[in-house]
Order: sequence, then C-alpha cells, then structure tokens
Amino acid sequence: MERTDLMTGIEKDWDKFLSLPISQKLPFFSKENRIYDCLFAQQFDRQSLSHLFSVADTLRKFTKKKEGMDFASSLLSHKRAMLYFVQPSTRTFLSFLNACHILGIKTGEIRDTSTSSELKGETPEDTVRTFSSYVDMIIMRHPAPNFVEKTAWLMNRTNRPVPVINGGSGKDQHPTQALLDVYTLHRSFDGNIDGKTIAMVGDLKRGRTVRSLSYLMKNYKNIKLIFISPKEFAMEKDILDFLNKHNMPFYETDNFEEGISQADAIYMTRIQDEHDKSGESKKVDISAFEFKTKHLKIIKQKAIIMHPLPRRTEIDIPVDEDPRAMYWRQERNGMWARAALIAHIFSADGQILKYK
Ligand code: NCD
Repeated sequence: MERTDLMTGIEKDWDKFLSLPISQKLPFFSKENRIYDCLFAQQFDRQSLSHLFSVADTLRKFTKKKEGMDFASSLLSHKRAMLYFVQPSTRTFLSFLNACHILGIKTGEIRDTSTSSELKGETPEDTVRTFSSYVDMIIMRHPAPNFVEKTAWLMNRTNRPVPVINGGSGKDQHPTQALLDVYTLHRSFDGNIDGKTIAMVGDLKRGRTVRSLSYLMKNYKNIKLIFISPKEFAMEKDILDFLNKHNMPFYETDNFEEGISQADAIYMTRIQDEHDKSGESKKVDISAFEFKTKHLKIIKQKAIIMHPLPRRTEIDIPVDEDPRAMYWRQERNGMWARAALIAHIFSADGQILKYK
C-alpha cells in the first residue's frame, strides 16, 4: 500500500488503523524506501542501522573543522522543525535541537501545553496540525500512548504532510533512544554487536527504552538478553512474545550480580514512578538492583555500562570514573545518531557520506 492510498478503506479510521499489525502500517510511514515518520524501533533493519551509523560517524568527524561544520549546516538550512515536547525531557530535547542546528535546520519549540492554545480548549490534534502549516518536520514527546503515531497518521492525511519523529510516546516506544543505544554498542564493540549478551536492569515493565531496544536487537545475530528486575517490574509479555517469535534467547532473573557478571553490556534504567498513581510500586525494594562501585569487580573486563539517563540511585557516582561507564558518551552519541536520522529523512545523508 502506498502513502497515496491513505484516504481509502480502513486507513481512514484511526482506531482501525491503530489495530493493524506494525508490518502493515510501515508503508504509511515511509517514502521512496526511506523512513518518513520515525515512530517505532521496528522501522530500522540491520542495513538501515549500519547506514545511519556510517552517516553519524562521518558527520561527527568532518564537523570537527569549521569548514566541515559550515558544510553540514548548509545542508538543510531551507528547513524548519518544531519540537513539541510536552513531557519532561533534557537529553532527548537538547540532542534533537542540536542535531537540527548541526544540519542548519531552524527550530521552534513548545514544551508546555499551558503556553499553547490547548489551554483555550483546542485539541492536541488541532494544535499539531497547526504546526504543519509552519514547519517541515515535527519532533515530539508526549505522555499519551500512541499520540505520536496518531499525529503522523493525521498529518499524512492532510494536504501538507510533514515527517514526524517520535521522541518518546507514553510507555510504549522510544525508537531514537534505541537507535542511539545500538549506535553506542556499535562504537563500543568496533561494529561487532553479533553474539553479545545484553542485560537490561530495573523497571522493565514501564520503561519505554528497554522495549524499543529489545525490538532493535532482533537485527543482530546470536544476541542473548538477560532481564534483571524485581518481579513487580518484569518485562511485559508482548516483548517476551516478540523475542520468542524471533527465536531470540532471553531469561528473566532477580539475581542482579549473577546477571550482570555474564553481560557484555549492562543497560541500567530508572524506576518510572511517574506512572504510578497508586503509590504501590514505590514500596518495591530496588536496592538489590543498583550498580554499586563494588560491582565493577564482578563484571567482564570489557563490559560496558549504559543508562538512557536521567539517573537517580541506579548507578553510584564513582562508577563514572571507570572506562567501562558509557552513559555520558551514550548521550552524546544521541545527538549524532539523531542528526543522521534527520539527514536521512530529508535525503541529505548521501551528501554527508560523499563529503571529503
Ligand atoms: C528516558 C525516557 O524518557 O524514556 N530518558 C531519555 O529519553 N533519555 C528514560 C527515563 O526517563 O528514565
């Protein structure tokens, strides 16, 4: 099905569209073999990941020099983007903002619905439709599940569609975080991600980053996943079903030390208390799932420690000094990975790769 068929049949009805399997939705969100709207981690395959990593690597290298940066910022200087981030964000917002600026894209932002006409009763759908009258791309983070997807769906049905990038929607997906996470694995393991054991630790139930990362790992061979959490925060069944369907071995444990000692990458996460209206999950004791300085002795010599950040008590501050602590580099990788993705969406990636 092509994007031009959007106005026909089932695709007219949002609820019906939402219930379609991802594989059937993907054509609506791509254009001429490129990602157009970036909404789900399942949109990336091994080839596109490897391509985006080359674009990110090339871009970060040549922009070290002024003439390289001048070239990069001329690439998309005719484009404007709106960053609509109505859920707390530091890194994702700043890295997208700076990724746009590296490519010369002019940016506007809304970070609080109380400053937009939503306060006058305008629906969020109308508000985002308004953006498309003024800009060429919408990058958004929203607390409501599927809202970013709905925006892209709506936008594609207007006469001025603009690409939409998901900077985190509800509890379900955070595809560009997964992109930068895998880019970090790629850089840390010299391009050899196949065969690695990845431990994900903490709030696997409500964390969207570990969900998107689990989907992305399907693109690599002989990956083993270890899910380490208290049972209250265990990984959701839909992800476990996905892993089983794709013959990806995993196991779940509440034994933190045993789990992390086997891993090549340890992906720590924060307890997502903001989703807890009842206060029940705040009572769960998570002290046995925190990375203390003493744990540096039991992990593999070449293991890396990752975290999407922000961190609370999951990782002791002195761990930052260890060369295996990768989270600060991981957040910087985010800016380059996102710049590569935006360049790809606007077909500027070829020029980046050709730059001498
Ligand atoms: C994550 C998020 O927002 O889901 N943060 C991020 O984007 N770097 C993880 C979190 O908030 O714990």
